[in-house]
Amino acid sequence: MIEMTHINKTFKAHRVLKNINLEVQTGEIVAIIGPSGAGKSTLLRSINLLEKPDSGSIRIDDIELNFAHFSKKEMFRLRQKSAMVFQNFNLFVNKNILENVSEALIVVKKMPKSEANDRAMAQLGAVGLAQKAKAYPYELSGGQQQRVAIARALSLDPSIMLFDEPTSALDVELIAEVLEVIKRIHNQTM
Ligand SMILES: Nc1ncnc2c1ncn2[C@@H]1O[C@H](COP(=O)(O)OP(=O)(O)O)[C@@H](O)[C@H]1O
Ligand SMILES: [Mg+2]
Repeated sequence: MIEMTHINKTFKAHRVLKNINLEVQTGEIVAIIGPSGAGKSTLLRSINLLEKPDSGSIRIDDIELNFAHFSKKEMFRLRQKSAMVFQNFNLFVNKNILENVSEALIVVKKMPKSEANDRAMAQLGAVGLAQKAKAYPYELSGGQQQRVAIARALSLDPSIMLFDEPTSALDVELIAEVLEVIKRIHNQTM
């Protein structure tokens, strides 16, 4: 579960998040809707500290952190709780699909390479892309690239998946396959 309390964030003179309070229960899906510039991404990015609010606190399961003052250790522990999927996929262009998924397992989770590859292959299978393991991002459609990004996020086994407009960069005919994968992973984890 996520509990955010009294979150404030100002960029220079621009107050973007004003006393935000939010609670999300385990298994719950929440959509944040609002006009461009409303602060949706800033709020999402605060959940894994890609953005640092000026004040307020966050709790994810058993990890609690006060945005006004926290240690590096607390930051890393909080980050491990979530994984994010971005609008523009953010894949490594010079790595193949398998390496894109296994990289964080090897570097962040310190997993042996063969184990990381097995896990990455299993996740690619789950999003229907096992046969593309050796391909590079430029050889894939936008929908396929986003499914790789989802596999990469899932492989980290996070408590929380954060999606920031995951289909808005896609051609209309590719949106359904990505939404289908997101729906499927939700059903599997419940
Ligand atoms: N790093 C930043 N520096 C300065 N202003 C920012 C930064 N990130 C976002 N903003 C501003 O904060 C506001 C909210 O942005 P954002 O959270 O991206 O909105 P949304 O995702 O709802 O479109 C916008 O006015 C944006 O220009
Ligand atoms: Mg945004």
